[in-house]
Amino acid sequence: MTRHIVIDCDPGTDDAVALWLALASPELAVEAITVAGGNVGLERTLTNARAIASLAGGAVPVHAGAGRPLLGRFTSAETVHGPDGLNGVKLPPGRPPAPGLAADAIRARLRTSTDPLTLVGIGPATNLALALATEPALAARIAEIVLMTGAWGEGNVTPAAEFNAWSDPEALAMVLACGRPITLVTLELTAQALVTPSRIAALRGRSDSACLHAACDILAAAPPPARLPGLPLHDPCAIAWLLRPDLFSGRDCAVRVEAGDGEGRGRTHIDRWQLSGRPANAHILERLDADGFFDLLGQRLAALP
Ligand code: BDR
Ligand code: CA
Repeated sequence: MTRHIVIDCDPGTDDAVALWLALASPELAVEAITVAGGNVGLERTLTNARAIASLAGGAVPVHAGAGRPLLGRFTSAETVHGPDGLNGVKLPPGRPPAPGLAADAIRARLRTSTDPLTLVGIGPATNLALALATEPALAARIAEIVLMTGAWGEGNVTPAAEFNAWSDPEALAMVLACGRPITLVTLELTAQALVTPSRIAALRGRSDSACLHAACDILAAAPPPARLPGLPLHDPCAIAWLLRPDLFSGRDCAVRVEAGDGEGRGRTHIDRWQLSGRPANAHILERLDADGFFDLLGQRLAALP
């Protein structure tokens, strides 16, 4: 069965790999790619998303979305992804953006798609929240939402918060409250998907695909991470979950995100041990078969143009 998905992203190095993994996978029909400012400003994330999609062939529409969070100020992650968002790796320019803004495009797809849609959010949740806020009844047309966001422990942008959750916690709170099945890929899960020089070498050897080699160049150019023995490949885990759920294990939990201006802004409170008495509203992925994940990634990317 083909799963129809929309990917909301902010490319971004790991977003690029996630997009190529999705576009390479026959189990997924990528209906649209919607883009927010996040890792770098919207102008760059949109340029990058168009280039990434075009390099993979096909004609998936790419829509521009929110350039800033619902509340608060925009802050990029250029120290991780470089000023251009792809660690300086140049891609051929992509096709022009599709008409219509991200939230409108998501609503239009939900309204008209013959099958319920899966929404995959791998950037700040602003576009998804705007789509749901203006026509909440369309939530019934969502099969599932998969988000790379949050952490049950330490953050990666503040001691309390993961970057996507911190970038727009108000939007994330709206998405978490939408009542549809939600799966979260957190920092604890992605810390098991570590890119190392030997994994990059193994990927490169798979084929002479331009997408595969661009992915390897982007990953090889990443600054060495401060707190882990490799680069966490966050966003592709969200796609891999849809392709090979057998590579993951997890549990249902009550999840809430802290908004407001304090030190805890963007912290996700994930009740793994049912201490809060609140009902579960998300499935939390906890364990990953990393070798299986990298094997899947290599196999799929090698088949792209
Ligand atoms: C998340 O933040 C971004 O920097 C990555 O693309 C990923 O979506 C990890 O915290
Ligand atoms: Ca991202």
